[in-house]
Amino acid sequence: MDISREEIQDFLDKDIFKLISDVAGRMQLDCYVIGGYVRDFFLYRPSKDIDIVAVGKGIALAEAVASKLGPRTKLSVFKNFGTAQIRYKDFDIEFVGARKESYTRDSRKPVVEDGTLEDDQKRRDFTINAMAFCLNKDRFGELLDPFNGLQDLEELIIRTPLDPDITFSDDPLRMMRAVRFASQLGFDIFPETFDAISRNKERIKIISKERIADELNKIILSPKPSIGFVLLEKTGLLEIIFPELVALKGAETKDGIGHKDNFYHTLAVLDNISLKTDYLWLRWSALLHDIAKPVTKRWDNKLGWTFHNHNYVGEKMVPKIFNRMKMPLNEKMKYTQKMVSMHMRPMQLVEEEVTDSAVRRLLFDAGDDIDDLMTLCEADITSKNSEKVRRFLQNFKIVRRKLAEIEEKDRVRNFQPPIDGNEIMEIFGLGQGREVGELKSYIKEAILEGEIPNERQAAYDYLIQKAKEIGLEPIDKNS
Ligand code: CTP
Repeated sequence: MDISREEIQDFLDKDIFKLISDVAGRMQLDCYVIGGYVRDFFLYRPSKDIDIVAVGKGIALAEAVASKLGPRTKLSVFKNFGTAQIRYKDFDIEFVGARKESYTRDSRKPVVEDGTLEDDQKRRDFTINAMAFCLNKDRFGELLDPFNGLQDLEELIIRTPLDPDITFSDDPLRMMRAVRFASQLGFDIFPETFDAISRNKERIKIISKERIADELNKIILSPKPSIGFVLLEKTGLLEIIFPELVALKGAETKDGIGHKDNFYHTLAVLDNISLKTDYLWLRWSALLHDIAKPVTKRWDNKLGWTFHNHNYVGEKMVPKIFNRMKMPLNEKMKYTQKMVSMHMRPMQLVEEEVTDSAVRRLLFDAGDDIDDLMTLCEADITSKNSEKVRRFLQNFKIVRRKLAEIEEKDRVRNFQPPIDGNEIMEIFGLGQGREVGELKSYIKEAILEGEIPNERQAAYDYLIQKAKEIGLEPIDKNS
């Protein structure tokens, strides 16, 4: 990559870097921008997180910079970690003193000492994350790249600066980060680095669930998430953090009849959906849509391989998985459950007949999530038979058109029956009980079946008629 010092200087020509440079000069500190901000400059990815490393006191530099920026500057100091943070405009700037760390074999607590810039670069995760730009006046914009990070960036390689066994045992989360960067950037993991992940995979168990879930979400949100999941599987990390996905692997054959490999199918669905949406939870739904296939798999002499109710069993597995991974157990999880549970509905609909009432029921059950559900179903078609794919997609087009027509006409998407339970009790002088529920569901069914329009008068007339059949008459309010 041919990037001149002038281009770097232009990039650093921001008042914040000028100010840090002045303050560091006055304090006689060497200081550098380092890590992700430098990497992202070379990748043309704009970034708002700036890491500054000072050779000497990082916190003191941050305090001096903050006081120059004025009394309203937000400065947070984390004495225990030797770091300080400044919010400036929309930048998050983190200051740290250059460190040399050594770990003793039997202790996870590092002995931290002040070090040189190179000591600090050495103990970073990957060569592409270990590059630094000097901010001092006389060397402003100089690139410090002792581990050839720029070359690895050009060759699309994730590699640790040190022996990978050391880098990963310093912080085992870095094994997930290696996979995450490979997936986000479309890079390869350098063979020795890869082997070290396989060797050290068990160490991931000492990392908090939240940090692992963070990395997993970043993999899921990458342009082609299958890259990350294939690497997680190959290194053996997936078996430890997400065994349910590994259980999807393999295609069994009996009497000459096979089923597809549901692991690679799931990844194909996830990639398909990722072309359509950045919505994390729809991507999670794709990842989990067939999660219960291994536990519901049966052989049937007439039908071959079956996975009965895998959608409903899958719906029940979602909270268990989310809970174990310390993921949110809120409406995002409920959305994911709903998608898993309903993921076969549009397909069943086109396999049978696309009647108005079937479309109305689908619309009623999916509500506002209908578009996402249709997107998931379309992504679920991964057949290699192009004629079959064409036919399904054509049928889904018909379903989408019908959905729009029916929604326009009947407004059942966020359906509220035009007569509610309280009103039914009032009309017939009833208390709460079975009859009220029955009458309510008669109205709902009649509307969904298209027997009556979704309107108050029609629902009222229908209610009176149905009530009569079970011997109920409206009470006369005047008597
Ligand atoms: N770093 C590290 N080991 C870690 C985490 C971070 O060595 N486990 C170093 C890397 O030099 C990294 C820098 O700290 O570039 C900043 O880390 P972070 O902000 O977490 O990541 P970024 O690399 O900036 O990337 P992203 O913002 O995409 O997470």
